[in-house]
Amino acid sequence: MNLITFLHLLPMALGKIIFQDNRECTSFKNYEIYIKHFVMCKQIDVTTISYHKNPSHGLMDLLKEFYEMNFVLNKATWLHHRIIKSNIKIETIHYPTLDKVTIVNGTATSLSSNEADAIFKEKMNFIDFDMVRIYIAENFKMFLRYSQTMVNPNRFFKSARCLKVFLFSSKNVKIKQVQKLLIHLWKKYSILNIIVHFPCSSEYKEFIITYNPFKATENGYGQVNVYHYSIILKYPHILLNNLKNINGYPLKISLFERSPTAISSDNVPWFIKDWKIYDKIPTTSKYYGLDGAAMLTLSQMMNFTIDIFNDSREDSYGNVINGSPTKTLKLIINRSVDLQGNSRFMQPYNVNGYEFTYILSHDEMCIIVPKAGIMPTWLRTMDIFRGKLLGVTFLLLIACVVFNKLFRGQNVPLGILILEIYGSFLTQAVTENSNKSLAGRFFFGSFLMYCIVISTLLSATLLSVYSTTVHFPDINTMEDFNRSGLRIQSSINPFKEVPSPIYQSLAAKVQSKHNPDLSSIESALAYKTGGLERLTDSNIKIETEFSDKDGAPLLHIVPECPNRYFLSFIVPTGSPYLKIINHIMIWINEMGLNDKWYKDITRAIFYEAKGNRLKITSESKDSREKFSMDDAKSVFIFWIFGLFAALVVFILELCVVFCI
Ligand SMILES: *[C@@H]1O[C@H](CO)[C@@H](O)[C@H](O)[C@H]1NC(C)=O
Ligand SMILES: *[C@@H]1O[C@H](CO)[C@@H](O)[C@H](O)[C@H]1NC(C)=O
Ligand SMILES: *[C@@H]1O[C@H](CO)[C@@H](O)[C@H](O)[C@H]1NC(C)=O
Ligand SMILES: *[C@@H]1O[C@H](CO)[C@@H](O)[C@H](O)[C@H]1NC(C)=O
Repeated sequence: MNLITFLHLLPMALGKIIFQDNRECTSFKNYEIYIKHFVMCKQIDVTTISYHKNPSHGLMDLLKEFYEMNFVLNKATWLHHRIIKSNIKIETIHYPTLDKVTIVNGTATSLSSNEADAIFKEKMNFIDFDMVRIYIAENFKMFLRYSQTMVNPNRFFKSARCLKVFLFSSKNVKIKQVQKLLIHLWKKYSILNIIVHFPCSSEYKEFIITYNPFKATENGYGQVNVYHYSIILKYPHILLNNLKNINGYPLKISLFERSPTAISSDNVPWFIKDWKIYDKIPTTSKYYGLDGAAMLTLSQMMNFTIDIFNDSREDSYGNVINGSPTKTLKLIINRSVDLQGNSRFMQPYNVNGYEFTYILSHDEMCIIVPKAGIMPTWLRTMDIFRGKLLGVTFLLLIACVVFNKLFRGQNVPLGILILEIYGSFLTQAVTENSNKSLAGRFFFGSFLMYCIVISTLLSATLLSVYSTTVHFPDINTMEDFNRSGLRIQSSINPFKEVPSPIYQSLAAKVQSKHNPDLSSIESALAYKTGGLERLTDSNIKIETEFSDKDGAPLLHIVPECPNRYFLSFIVPTGSPYLKIINHIMIWINEMGLNDKWYKDITRAIFYEAKGNRLKITSESKDSREKFSMDDAKSVFIFWIFGLFAALVVFILELCVVFCI
């Protein structure tokens, strides 16, 4: 379609050039001042706007120049020709016009051309230099008519970071109107780099008009600059605004409290406030933690003032419900704020109007289950006698009885042989020690060594049984969880999209929360079921909230976490700050600052929780239990079993003797 328009217009344009000598707008090569900018781009979009099918002479002259430029640059150029109705009503724009227009002349800057070139390249990196948009119209009103009636604002937002060039063919220039237009495009569409040019005006044909919203003046921020084209030829960088230092311009930032990445000073561990690197937080981002520190760093690197958007009704990440965004996502899409400063999962929302920044950190979504129960002591005492060791010991004892018989000779009864080995095994000497042969004594000596090793081992194991707490095996894989028969109470189901069978069966286990006021991790504890929570959050919550008075956890994180996410911030589509924010965020990642900020706060929270726990236990005097006979009751249980067995045998014996 665009190409067809292009081919359709070309003969028309050429015809005008060849047959009419009406070239008042092209007395010098207008495009030369932008050529450095255009060299770096890949695509040039030209939109001509006119009231009639046949554009006026002025428009065609300007267009012709860009054909000429296109021959020089050889870029992909698209031409759009838009015809608008002249009688449609447009909204007037009400922005206070600035009194002063600064005309920058001659020696505005004293940079060498190399320095200027370096600055130019750097500035180009902070805009979307791939594309340049050129609008050619007769005057400012025509462009407004076009932008208000024919343009889908989303398209405008999407290309807001490109360099825009406005060429107006009108001869009389009202600089106040140009101001209005530039401020309007900045305030409404956040288009930062606009160049306005009037090649047909005798007064202004040698001047370029731009707007710098970050310039601090007596009347607030914003200044319209008029440059002579000779300055631009020398210093092409001054056409682009400087994002690296925006002079304290206020950026509206939405930031709500969310432990541990954004914690207000009331809730943060007190000793964090004394750290020098965080001492500016109370006057800037107001929140400690990873997000708060990132906002502070962004504001320092770009030199903006943080204007916290403070509305407690919007304090949540937000989502898309029935096609409409909610909470802070809505604030971004609505362009009420410039940056949402709580790092969130990079998970696409099904809606236009926002962009993710570069990643700040990553996190996992993990299944939380109740901690497995504590194994009772008697069961653990039994546990000592389980396994291969018992069998091997038993076989060894039998072998020793056989050896004993070999060494002691034929005339000793078997009962005595067994009793000797048994007694030595329990380190109770019942042997008569009448081994005659040297080999027999060696055998018995080494057997005694073996016995002491085994009995020490037994006492050591018994000590560990009584002095440590051991849990039944925890759930450690997704498969274990699947088999456990537990369900997951959660408002989200991140497993649905993954086609693998294990994820599908997990997805089927997710059910809505029994009590919607509880978070998923709280439900897991309350209903002894599964829950879903971010790994970093659950580590902290289990340490601080969900553990008993000795600090033993009540919940367990299944180490095999099903989903992994990157976290980043969001900005409105076409935000002029996105590229420089990304640049700074990459720097933050390379420096490892994100890790540092995160660990600072989580460690502080852990230390505080540990300190509080110590305070509580030292206040309650008899919190430490002494070891008592009660703890060794399993031994007595065995003893009673033994007595009972003996009793049964005794009764049987009596029966045999007296009944038969
Ligand atoms: C700016 O410079 C141009 C050419 O060098 C000159 O014609 C014009 O008068 C100057 N304007 C001001 C305001 O100094
Ligand atoms: C940051 O902006 C302020 C104006 O609010 C200015 O005074 C200061 O010099 C700027 N800082 C830097 C490093 O340029
Ligand atoms: C938000 O506003 C409330 C009341 O308007 C105020 O108490 C609170 O300190 C503000 N929070 C921040 C971070 O500015
Ligand atoms: C969102 O935008 C609409 C229209 O632009 C406006 O009416 C509404 O007040 C805005 N909402 C907020 C919370 O700013």
